[in-house]
Amino acid sequence: MSYIEIRNIFKIFGPDPKSALELAKGGADKDEILSKTGHTVGLHDVSLSIEQGETFVVMGLSGSGKSTLIRHLNRLIDPTAGSISFGGEDILAMDIPALNAFRRKRLGMVFQRFGLLPHRNVMDNVAYGLEIQGTARKDREAAASKWIERVGLAGYETKFPDQLSGGMQQRVGLARALATDPEVLLMDEAFSALDPLIRSDMQDELMKLQAELHKTIVFITHDLDEALKIGDRIAILKDGKLVQVGRPEEIVLKPANDYVQAFTHDVNRSRVLRAKSIMAPISETDSAATTRDLPTIQANALLRDILPIALANGTAMTVLDTNDTPIGTLSPQQIVDALNG
Ligand SMILES: Nc1ncnc2c1ncn2[C@@H]1O[C@H](COP(=O)(O)OP(=O)(O)O)[C@@H](O)[C@H]1O
Ligand SMILES: [Mg+2]
Repeated sequence: MSYIEIRNIFKIFGPDPKSALELAKGGADKDEILSKTGHTVGLHDVSLSIEQGETFVVMGLSGSGKSTLIRHLNRLIDPTAGSISFGGEDILAMDIPALNAFRRKRLGMVFQRFGLLPHRNVMDNVAYGLEIQGTARKDREAAASKWIERVGLAGYETKFPDQLSGGMQQRVGLARALATDPEVLLMDEAFSALDPLIRSDMQDELMKLQAELHKTIVFITHDLDEALKIGDRIAILKDGKLVQVGRPEEIVLKPANDYVQAFTHDVNRSRVLRAKSIMAPISETDSAATTRDLPTIQANALLRDILPIALANGTAMTVLDTNDTPIGTLSPQQIVDALNG
């Protein structure tokens, strides 16, 4: 069982969700249910398993159900049908005190509009979660200082949110979410309001932190490039339904349908595809003969990093696994074909 298990979630908005639920279970889609009953389908039979320590991205157009999904994970909304568990514990069965403790201690949230408290300075914003938990001032300020420094804001402790740029405000948001050492970080379009360069910096920052922290991160975005860059796995939603779940390369190389394909069309494939997924595999027996004297590359190397090697040598390359055992070859032509899709 995975850390977060979401099973057959339906969420129907409107005065009589149960009636529309029967239609949805019978196979009616979002448009049909809206026209017949006036109810809006937020989520339609969504099941997902999210592993501890992974960065799991939920992607889809506006209105596809992304925020509805993440709001189920902190129980800002309850499903019309279905179940959700964290670490084997049914979160839908929690009473109010248990739910409050769950939110404070186990979840960290980062919002698109930063959600900082305007009348508190950076230190007091970052320390807020610990303050709510009753941590003594000295201890919470020590913890907050550490996180303020980690996100690159040392020296800004006494500034107020309106004295900071958007990127800096979101760094405060990230530090605040991490300060309580949550198991799970929920990030709903957290970087979507930022300018492209700042946004890219924040993505790098998050990935750097995650490489050390190994939090379970559920990250929502409408931007496939962002999803492919930071996601270990990506779930794609359309009209409340899950259309594909996969690693970035699976999404790009094997889009489940035209909807996903349309998203992947303009993706920079050199930043997504790795040697392993486009090489010609070789067997152990013929490896010695095939790979003699060829330049070598690692199986996990991105095409972006392989291209200079391919250009400098102009020959095929030997692909090595993490034990430096040859597992395949990659020719310049294979690279060109992969880049062209
Ligand atoms: N509180 C609500 N009441 C009625 N409809 C809602 C509510 N919240 C979301 N919806 C509808 O559910 C669908 C999914 O919305 P949402 O999860 O916000 O999408 P996204 O975050 O992907 O843009 C949309 O059709 C939206 O209009
Ligand atoms: Mg949303």
